[in-house]
Amino acid sequence: MQKYRIRGKNRIMGRLSIGGAKNAALPILAAVCLNESVSEIHNVPPIADTLASIEILESIGCRVEFEGTTLRVDASAALTHDIPDEIARSMRSSILFVGAMLGRCGKVNIATPGGCNLGIRAIDLHVEGLEKMGAIIRTEGEKLYCEANELRGAHIKLHTASVGATENLMLAAVLASGETIIENAAREPEIIDLARFLNEMGAKVKGAGTGTIVINGVKRLTHTKPHSIMPDRIVAGTYLVAAAITGGLVTLTDVCPADLVPVTAKLREMGCTICSTANCITLAAPDRLKSVEITTDVHPGFPTDMQSQFVAALTLAQGRSVVRETIFENRHAHAADLNRMGATIRISDDCRTFVINGMEKLHGTTVSAQDLRGGAALILAALAAEGETIVTGAEYVQRGYARIEEDLRQLGADIVLC
Ligand code: EPU
Repeated sequence: MQKYRIRGKNRIMGRLSIGGAKNAALPILAAVCLNESVSEIHNVPPIADTLASIEILESIGCRVEFEGTTLRVDASAALTHDIPDEIARSMRSSILFVGAMLGRCGKVNIATPGGCNLGIRAIDLHVEGLEKMGAIIRTEGEKLYCEANELRGAHIKLHTASVGATENLMLAAVLASGETIIENAAREPEIIDLARFLNEMGAKVKGAGTGTIVINGVKRLTHTKPHSIMPDRIVAGTYLVAAAITGGLVTLTDVCPADLVPVTAKLREMGCTICSTANCITLAAPDRLKSVEITTDVHPGFPTDMQSQFVAALTLAQGRSVVRETIFENRHAHAADLNRMGATIRISDDCRTFVINGMEKLHGTTVSAQDLRGGAALILAALAAEGETIVTGAEYVQRGYARIEEDLRQLGADIVLC
């Protein structure tokens, strides 16, 4: 069990390049199963969840080489359809192998997915959509047995614009016969990156990034054009908040500023000065942040994956802020720990609304990461707190940040992983 030791009060200053996005890499690492050839993917973040996806690929018969951030996957051999339980349970996005493997092999047995405990995290939309395309899915205990003699295109309307369900259905649809229409599809930028990758392999996907995605099935995917994973907008957002909360000045390179607009708009409202060019963004923090109201929403709304980090920053903002979480029912574990650091956050009975009275300062103590972004939020608070903070549960943070301690040290923080 590793932890971060942080001595607070250093301003976050300097320049940093941002790597590839976890939430774009994970569906693309499932999509490589569909390619009866070699996929070459660049800018793959070396984080715990991508390593788990690589283990899944190897377990089903793919040959994988991962050097630096370049991944080569040869999925030309016949693949087996049994995914080992332990790896499947280690992350939520293992469920994406259902759509991809049904498309490729017509069969897959997989444990129900794990991941950060952010709430119920149902898979009804994945199952219903795949069944509509002709799959037969049987649940026995914590295991899914999925089969499809032939996947057929279907018209599917999602009751929630689920990112994972949209991706799973896209993966299944690219090799299905006929046309699939996904209505109320998620519009996150990561969906666009997946569609781009699928199309580069020879698929016919249109409308990604809008609420209606239309996929015309093709017989086989065998193309091998190298793909570069899009920049991680949540990692970038986290480091912008690191500068904001410490009164710093940071320039992030290799980012897509357009994808960060919901985040940068709030940072501007909080008093930060932000300017951006095509793939670069600079933030200068004010002497003191201002309070704001935030409600998380599906893209292009404010991302739930930035909620915890903003709650951390608002604990030091002038005035009273209100943050509402609408996507997950259980994304609040960071608030109690922030209060132990001297914050004043009142959490509503349903755990979805945080009322934050901004304080002059926070103080270091021992706190514990209980999910990925909540862990990042505690690190951010520690950067601004007086004295030393220990953040335990580093393994949660490592699921989504390749080397957060090295990145933050490069920007002037006093942080070690121990
Ligand atoms: N939902 C259902 N039924 C389903 C699927 C989802 O009711 O079949 C509900 C969920 O319970 C949740 C909401 O819909 O309340 C949104 O879930 P969604 O399916 O959109 O989320 P996800 O695909 O499981 C991805 C990201 C998350 C991110 C969410 C929302 C990946 C690998 N994960 O999860 O990322 O929070 O979309 O944007 O792409 C993170 O990076 O920290 C993280 C948790």
